[in-house]
Amino acid sequence: MLSHTFPLADYAVHLGPLSETLPAWLQKRNYSSIFVITDENTHAHCLPYLDLLPPIKGGAGGGLGAILPPGETFKTLTTCSQVWQAMLDANLDRKALVINLGGGVIGDLGGFCAATWKRGVDFIQIPTTLLSMTDAAIGGKLGIDFQGLKNVVGVFQNPAAVFVDPAFLLTLPERELRSGFAEVIKHAFIGDVALWRNIEAMPNLEDAPWLAILRASIAVKVRIVTEDPHEKGLRMLLNYGHTIGHAVESYFLKTPFPRTHGECIALGMIAESWLARTSIPSGHNLLAQTITLIAASFAHEPIPEAAFTEIWETMQQDKKNIAGAVRIAVPGEEPYSMQVIETNAEAVVESLRFYNGLVGEAF
Ligand code: GLY
Repeated sequence: MLSHTFPLADYAVHLGPLSETLPAWLQKRNYSSIFVITDENTHAHCLPYLDLLPPIKGGAGGGLGAILPPGETFKTLTTCSQVWQAMLDANLDRKALVINLGGGVIGDLGGFCAATWKRGVDFIQIPTTLLSMTDAAIGGKLGIDFQGLKNVVGVFQNPAAVFVDPAFLLTLPERELRSGFAEVIKHAFIGDVALWRNIEAMPNLEDAPWLAILRASIAVKVRIVTEDPHEKGLRMLLNYGHTIGHAVESYFLKTPFPRTHGECIALGMIAESWLARTSIPSGHNLLAQTITLIAASFAHEPIPEAAFTEIWETMQQDKKNIAGAVRIAVPGEEPYSMQVIETNAEAVVESLRFYNGLVGEAF
């Protein structure tokens, strides 16, 4: 397989088999040791893949590292303490390299621990989920959840490199793969009409041409974070679906039936495009197209009315808000153009009711 490199200002994203990309990159550097952060799943299913590589000084597998419990509920300060303790036990110095081998939780939390350890050691992201390959691992957003609010404590710090190997997609349960697909759909809306058409024509996820999809989707993410690394403007567009979606995800995380990030973002895109339908010139088109693409890949899962108040309260903590106004970013008419609208409790409730009422129509 041919690998492809996406250069950013101070690092690169390497797409292709790890055996073609990682060893050469490591050989050019002289790290004192390597500390691998995994969760129980990636430790079992993905770490063996690193052990197939030529020996890495410090040991990628049998060497130093931390194995964390899997899942968003562990993206907390308590888990960071465990990682920092393991770094202390390993006597990790400033010339060490941290490898985050996992999905968004491992990348965000592991990157945060590396970026703060002794005021920062190099780290690389090796994303193992579709969601982290196409979105979370790229762009230097690191952090943890706090008091049930997603990613509310964190920093911007770029990795030394990102290595995306599509082979890891084979290790994923179907629901996890589908979750990441919501971010691919989001990127298609933001900047790539051809990707949009490919998705529309795709019979099912199992037979998806992943290398081509990843290449197109990563290109959108790379372009946005290159233009606006610290989310002063256009990067807000990557939040399409997330203002409502994150709040829905936080709500369900506290129930016995948590929903995946992608499931929440998917319905969030529908609700947010409904909110924007009359405020922007392309609003009705965006709404119709969003419903079509989401309904082709996601089941319709209504949200209980009893959750609406809490969802609105969580949205009031969104990082895009200014002076208490809740802001939503949606794609404009042209690729890479953005519209920001302000919303309120009544409108959000109506948008969720609109989503709930779609059953039997598009879905
Ligand atoms: N995942 C959204 C961003 O990177 O800005």
